[in-house]
Amino acid sequence: MSNTNTAKITVNGDRLWQSLMELAEIGAYNDEGTGLRGVNRPVLTDADVASRRRVIAWMEQVGLAVRIDRMGNIYGRREGADSTAAPVLTGSHIDSVATAGAFDGCLGVLGGIEVVRTLNEHGITTRRPIEVGIFTEEEGGRFGTDMLGSAVAASRLTLEYAHALTDRDGLTLGGELARTGFDGTVEARLAPPHAYVECHIEQGPVLAENDVAVGVVTGVQGISWQEITIHGRAAHAGTTPTHLRADAGLAAARIIVHLRALVDSGDYGELRATVGHLVVHPDLTNIVPAHAELTVDLRNPDDTQMARAEEALAAFLHDLEDSQPGLSLTCRQMAKTTYVPFDEGVQKVIAQAADDHGLKHISLLSGAGHDAQEIAALCPTAMIFVRGEYDGISHSPREYSTPQACRQGVDVLATTLLRLADQD
Ligand code: GLV
Ligand code: MN
Ligand code: MN
Repeated sequence: MSNTNTAKITVNGDRLWQSLMELAEIGAYNDEGTGLRGVNRPVLTDADVASRRRVIAWMEQVGLAVRIDRMGNIYGRREGADSTAAPVLTGSHIDSVATAGAFDGCLGVLGGIEVVRTLNEHGITTRRPIEVGIFTEEEGGRFGTDMLGSAVAASRLTLEYAHALTDRDGLTLGGELARTGFDGTVEARLAPPHAYVECHIEQGPVLAENDVAVGVVTGVQGISWQEITIHGRAAHAGTTPTHLRADAGLAAARIIVHLRALVDSGDYGELRATVGHLVVHPDLTNIVPAHAELTVDLRNPDDTQMARAEEALAAFLHDLEDSQPGLSLTCRQMAKTTYVPFDEGVQKVIAQAADDHGLKHISLLSGAGHDAQEIAALCPTAMIFVRGEYDGISHSPREYSTPQACRQGVDVLATTLLRLADQD
């Protein structure tokens, strides 16, 4: 990857902040747990549709030519001097978990648009086109598979698989794309860009602990999501002797405790395990639960250790089923990605850009999943992380990065994109 351009540009931090705050009003709600205003904008809900329309309007205002593909992924293109050259792509997502803050994903999309505004103001024509992408269902919170739009763009998952996924009300993603008018006509498989760079909040404490503004992301750890359904037997809470119960709720609790024991054993590397969704049926005080449904989210930077942890969980589930007559379990893999290393050449361009902006930086692995890990299959890719406050808490209305931190990250994005877009 040759790189001769040493130019540097800085963006308008106030304008970037204003757009972040304005977008956060779409899907805003008052969060009872924190007493803060949060964002609830799962993919293809009315709020997500409104936010897509708002961002498309901003894209058009800065002169981007917008296209929508069959996954509902949105791309805005700024022409380069050589319109036949592969573009440099940036972007992220604007769908959110149901209890989000203003920054997750939005910083990368609005940061990309702010870079384009800045290039326009400076009258800069890059050699390569620059495109800003918005990927559908990055969060996986509604249709159960994360990084879905970018995974289809990168051909890891098929369009048919994605369109057939259902939400908890049985609505399909394909149907929701059609209902909302985001069933674009452009082929969803993306032609390989020259490079992809995504700016995102860190969503963790590492940058703050190291007292640096910016992170150069070396890769993303593996993610495994499963849905476990436990079938037991409903029975009267007062009259049913303990030995006659097939208690689905108890089995769910045992799974949660066992996962924690796997983590605490230290035998599975840097495993993280979370049961974030758990429901019991019929969900009544005086009835032994007949069914339970839970999700398991495993993360591991080491694919071998991840496989061992998955095997250990499967063995435990098998034993659990055998431990109580009348109890049975079914598992469904919802999402699975391996460790993805990022391109060293792009990391170097990012690190140099941070140096040139006078920003201290460190390299770190991403704990969260990102669209970048999918696009990395198509072209040299890396990410810029922006520091978060309050231990980098995220997926919560407490998520917060300062206006200065956001601007600094997008300054690095701007200079990185400018340099990559002038490469041969
Ligand atoms: C994406 O937000 C993830 O769950 O890592
Ligand atoms: Mn995100
Ligand atoms: Mn997220």
